[in-house]
Amino acid sequence: MSISSTDRIVIFDTTLRDGEQSPGATLNVEEKLAIAHQLALLGVDAIEAGFAIASPGDFEAVRTIAEQVGGVPGGPIICSLARAIREDIKAAAEALQPAAHPRIHVFLSTSDIHLKYQLKKTRDQVLAIAEEAIAYAKSFVQDVEFSPMDASRTEPEFLYQVLSTAIAAGATTINIPDTVGICTPKEMEKLIQGIRKNVANIEQVILSVHTQNDLGLATANALAAIENGVRQVECTINGIGERAGNAALEEIVMALQVRKPYYNPYLGRPVESEAPLVNIKTQEIYKTSCLVSQLTGIAVQPNKAIVGANAFAHESGVHQDGVIKHRETYEIMNAADIGLPENRIVLGKHSGRNAFRSKLQELGFDLNEADFNKAFIRFKEVADKKKEMTDWDIEAIVRDETQIQ
Ligand code: KIV
Repeated sequence: MSISSTDRIVIFDTTLRDGEQSPGATLNVEEKLAIAHQLALLGVDAIEAGFAIASPGDFEAVRTIAEQVGGVPGGPIICSLARAIREDIKAAAEALQPAAHPRIHVFLSTSDIHLKYQLKKTRDQVLAIAEEAIAYAKSFVQDVEFSPMDASRTEPEFLYQVLSTAIAAGATTINIPDTVGICTPKEMEKLIQGIRKNVANIEQVILSVHTQNDLGLATANALAAIENGVRQVECTINGIGERAGNAALEEIVMALQVRKPYYNPYLGRPVESEAPLVNIKTQEIYKTSCLVSQLTGIAVQPNKAIVGANAFAHESGVHQDGVIKHRETYEIMNAADIGLPENRIVLGKHSGRNAFRSKLQELGFDLNEADFNKAFIRFKEVADKKKEMTDWDIEAIVRDETQIQ
């Protein structure tokens, strides 16, 4: 049974390759290795460890990860990127040599704009280069992924032709990059449906998608692709990557967990609600996010979905009141699901009496109604002037407004 005909989605993590292409995110070998170990703990299926030809350091990183993380059967696939050039492919193969399950990821531009201005090649030349490069990669490893770069801006008939050629040449995964992040989810749906209908033997390979976030649609596009039959998604921790970044692993994984079932077009039925859609241990998400942020130096924005500091924090009185009474009134996930000990009630000027009372209890204060009212009025006055009220502020208010010392 091919992977396409199961419900499982392959998580291909490219934090160490596309993610490292974030300006300023450069990682050394030890840092890459530490992240790779954590990605393996998280349970990703494939780790794109780098671009072996890019620098001696990247070669070393791919090789070390291939040996120390991917060196035993049952571990993740270890992958290196390569242009459709013999030297790149040879370097990738050499770096991947210690891996139990090595993958070479060959990419080649296919859109007219790239052919005219960047590659300066004809379509026929591109077809021949793709065929030759995949066959060459195949002489080193079984598992070859092919990406037609700028696929979403490639003329569809030519795209189908390139992909049919790539499969005939031996590609085992066909990855569709929305390189410039221009797709909308509707367009992604059409793109994937067209590929599944028109590319010869597409059902014999794993169909994958790589979505960039230039319009903030990377996760939505990845999900649209999954709903239309894609069985591998390429993503990064915290969504880091070239320009505005990639689809965030944590967003895709939690969306699949919270919002399944999706329709599986290969099986002609909705995804079974009991079926594990991904291998990810979601409780490792937060830890992985912190490690990547710390080692790349790229801070996570506070309102970032899933892993931002505010993702499980509640400030307004109405929301706090609801969450204190029943968590699910304003939470669609449990903080513990991503490895956070608990959600956070943040006291500020929008907070109400219920949240204030619950904070007093937490701090060990048991006020009578009159004292409580005085303290609450004072709390609102102070909160109006501050961004966030700390436990020290609350304690000071209680001591000022009551007889408690
Ligand atoms: O954005 C892109 O097109 C890529 C490919 C190499 C998959 O990163």
